[in-house]
Amino acid sequence: MQSIRTVSIIGTGSYVPEKVLTNHDLEKIVDTTDEWIHSRTGMRERHIASPDQATSDLGTEAAKVALIDAGIDAEELDLIIVATLSPDMFFPSTACFVQDKIGAKNAFCYDLGAACSGFLFALDAAKNQIACGAVKTALVIGAEKMSTFIDWKDRGTCILFGDGAGAAVLQAGGEGRGIMQSVMGSDGSLADLLWTPGGGSRNPISHEMIDQGMQYLKMKGRDVFKYAVNRMTESVIQALEKNEVSVDEIKCFIPHQANIRIIDAIAKRLNIADRIYTNVEKYANTSSAALAMALDEAAKDGTLKKGDLVAMTVFGGGFTWGANVLEWSKS
Ligand code: COA
Repeated sequence: MQSIRTVSIIGTGSYVPEKVLTNHDLEKIVDTTDEWIHSRTGMRERHIASPDQATSDLGTEAAKVALIDAGIDAEELDLIIVATLSPDMFFPSTACFVQDKIGAKNAFCYDLGAACSGFLFALDAAKNQIACGAVKTALVIGAEKMSTFIDWKDRGTCILFGDGAGAAVLQAGGEGRGIMQSVMGSDGSLADLLWTPGGGSRNPISHEMIDQGMQYLKMKGRDVFKYAVNRMTESVIQALEKNEVSVDEIKCFIPHQANIRIIDAIAKRLNIADRIYTNVEKYANTSSAALAMALDEAAKDGTLKKGDLVAMTVFGGGFTWGANVLEWSKS
């Protein structure tokens, strides 16, 4: 097997459902205000999927856009990875549903669970499978229907999340350095700071479990905030070192879109406020979709230019975190 060093993103796409839920709409659901939400999180609105849309439907729409952008047919895909914490069902994987919907009959498919860090972890997994020559073309999706397991009575969490999907097509070759080395980490001892405890094998579905609300996302916001800032800042520094790139060489930083105050704190520590990309105001936190959606938006609105070095960083439940660097090779 030949070792192929460069792996490039040749197309991106994203999708958000039509329905928009504004902070003012949330004022009618829980005891909150637009002013509180915006000042604490930077969010103004989020998109919410319709009852008949599952996560694979969102991922499929993003995938179709990414395939057109890449100029390839779905049958050319060898691999599909869907990063999600809101799969259509326990099994089959959401990636298999996407495969069927787009007609990628030559691809093998699996889901990857790293909560909000999932897209970066999946990008790294796909990149390495291409780099070692095992596959040539891969589709990586981050897709979430967060609205299904949000407790709409809990003002501490329901204001923070939205639904959406983003996708990237990766292929061997391309000009420049392509996707470089990632830095990733996890700490399972902190799992209970951000989790959905019910519905799996630990706390199976039962009337009792549902009465206790264990099917909903639970979070200790202040702790999550602190770890998110520290871990994302550290991992960007480590990823830059690993790839022998200086902070000044990075043209665009794309962080996980969890909260503008988290993003601002990272930007301040790294002194990169002038180069940081955010869209959290429009979509809120779409978990593993957030980085993928922001990457697509930055690519399409002209922020990313051919030859630019881009640093990305993520943080999520687990805890999980990571960062990577890539050279943007699309014109
Ligand atoms: N509207 C109005 N008041 C609210 C509220 C809301 N939506 N949610 C919480 N409050 C109240 C609290 O009840 C509390 O009131 P009290 O002082 O009377 O007890 C007060 O606001 C402060 O709550 P606190 O949780 O300490 O606020 P905070 O400044 O830490 O902001 C978060 C809360 C959730 C916005 C913030 O902690 C955060 O963003 N954390 C990270 C979350 C995250 O990004 N998770 C995903 C990571 S992938």
